[in-house]
Amino acid sequence: MPHLREMTKSIMDQQRTTLVLLSHCPAETVRIGRILGELLAAGDCVALVGELGAGKTCLTQGIAQGLGIPAGYAVTSPTFTLLNEYPGGKTGLYHFDVYRLTGPADLAETGFEEYLSHDGVVVIEWADKIEQQVPEGALYIVLSILEENVRKVEISGPRGQVDSCAAILHSGRHLTSASDCEAPGGCPQNAQGKNTEGRP
Ligand SMILES: Nc1ncnc2c1ncn2[C@@H]1O[C@H](COP(=O)(O)OP(=O)(O)OP(=O)(O)O)[C@@H](O)[C@H]1O
Ligand SMILES: [Mg+2]
Repeated sequence: MPHLREMTKSIMDQQRTTLVLLSHCPAETVRIGRILGELLAAGDCVALVGELGAGKTCLTQGIAQGLGIPAGYAVTSPTFTLLNEYPGGKTGLYHFDVYRLTGPADLAETGFEEYLSHDGVVVIEWADKIEQQVPEGALYIVLSILEENVRKVEISGPRGQVDSCAAILHSGRHLTSASDCEAPGGCPQNAQGKNTEGRP
């Protein structure tokens, strides 16, 4: 007879679904993030996976917008601290980047577990590095570079959340106009000249 934990996992798996999108420019990725941010609530966790420059921070900037984090905050990868906190939206945003994580003790020191039960949304860049610690109900987003400006965005998570996102996208409210894609910058950090490529 299957173990209760396995049965629970299998039921949860059945309640998860995946949405695959294409983003043609940074502004479109920000827009996808904003839609997600509008749907997220305190206690939610978003696990971002993708190579250097895939658009994880760009998507997080959109999530911050959707949560209503004041525009004065420049959302960038918390490169040396593992965590940046952004207060002030409908909930706070706890933005982890575990690229430089050296081990589980390092993560524990940040208070990661406590943040998961805080009154805020947790977003983790390079979540594949801490897969065991990512909560089962998390929204997983895998970003892949297809062309210089084209990204595949695969959103997997609880059916309700993913379906709501799909409904908004299909309603056309997300559409990024050609002029959005032609505008310089896109991800605010690029407007500030931050180069994300080739981390030491
Ligand atoms: N469709 C797109 N969506 C997102 N970013 C794009 C897109 N097209 C081009 N880019 C560029 O790709 C880069 C994405 O940078 P970003 O910092 O978001 O990546 P990242 O996945 O967080 O990288 P890192 O692992 O270094 O933190 C930016 O320079 C951005 O301008
Ligand atoms: Mg980043």
